Amino acid sequence: MASSDRGELTVTVATAEERPIIANLMQLYTHDFSDFWFDRAEGELGPDGRFAEYPLDPWWSDPGCVPLLVRVGGKLAGFALLNAASHSGRPVDRNMAEFFIVRKHRRGGVGAAAARAIFGLYPGIWEAAVARRNVGALSFWRRAIGGYAHAEAIEETDHDDPHWNGPILRFRASAPG
Ligand SMILES: CC(C)(COP(=O)(O)OP(=O)(O)OC[C@H]1O[C@@H](n2cnc3c(N)ncnc32)[C@H](O)[C@@H]1OP(=O)(O)O)[C@@H](O)C(=O)NCCC(=O)NCCS
Repeated sequence: MASSDRGELTVTVATAEERPIIANLMQLYTHDFSDFWFDRAEGELGPDGRFAEYPLDPWWSDPGCVPLLVRVGGKLAGFALLNAASHSGRPVDRNMAEFFIVRKHRRGGVGAAAARAIFGLYPGIWEAAVARRNVGALSFWRRAIGGYAHAEAIEETDHDDPHWNGPILRFRASAPG
């Protein structure tokens, strides 16, 4: 699909058999996010050393929810969960509900390449809502979306309301010709 120094990058829809892979990667994702949760109860490990399980059921029952796995050179490198939830209150086709690249594969362009591959697979109006404390992710999304040749009408708005606290990037993605 796309390639990097480490091999071909692929994005595939996770099958029901692959759901445990996403559940495992979600533990790593939650650990990353727990960095931002030092002042709240969320993100505490359970007595078994695991974070609370993420509610993955909709990604294998709701047609608007799409679970994706990212591989580089055939090795697992991350995942994305798409849905159609709007954080801005405006209509959307796709929302990047969760997006994660494992630390081994970071800062080599894998995240941006994976995100752009996903936008191309699912054209339409997109939103990515970024938690206020996740300043690295905001830089990432600005680059990944801003550098996507098929993104139009890119907007960044800042929100502090019951629906979202932080920036929201919104744009229209079209599929590469
Ligand atoms: C955010 C994340 C997906 C980035 O993945 P990645 O593969 O490292 O991203 P890329 O290498 O494609 O980065 C492209 C550009 O985005 C920017 N960027 C990426 N991560 C950044 C960070 N932590 N801080 C600042 N800028 C960053 C840089 O400009 C980077 O280009 P550069 O490395 O040449 O400077 C990854 O760090 C991650 O999974 N983080 C934890 C989960 C998360 O926060 N997800 C986003 C939820 S909204």
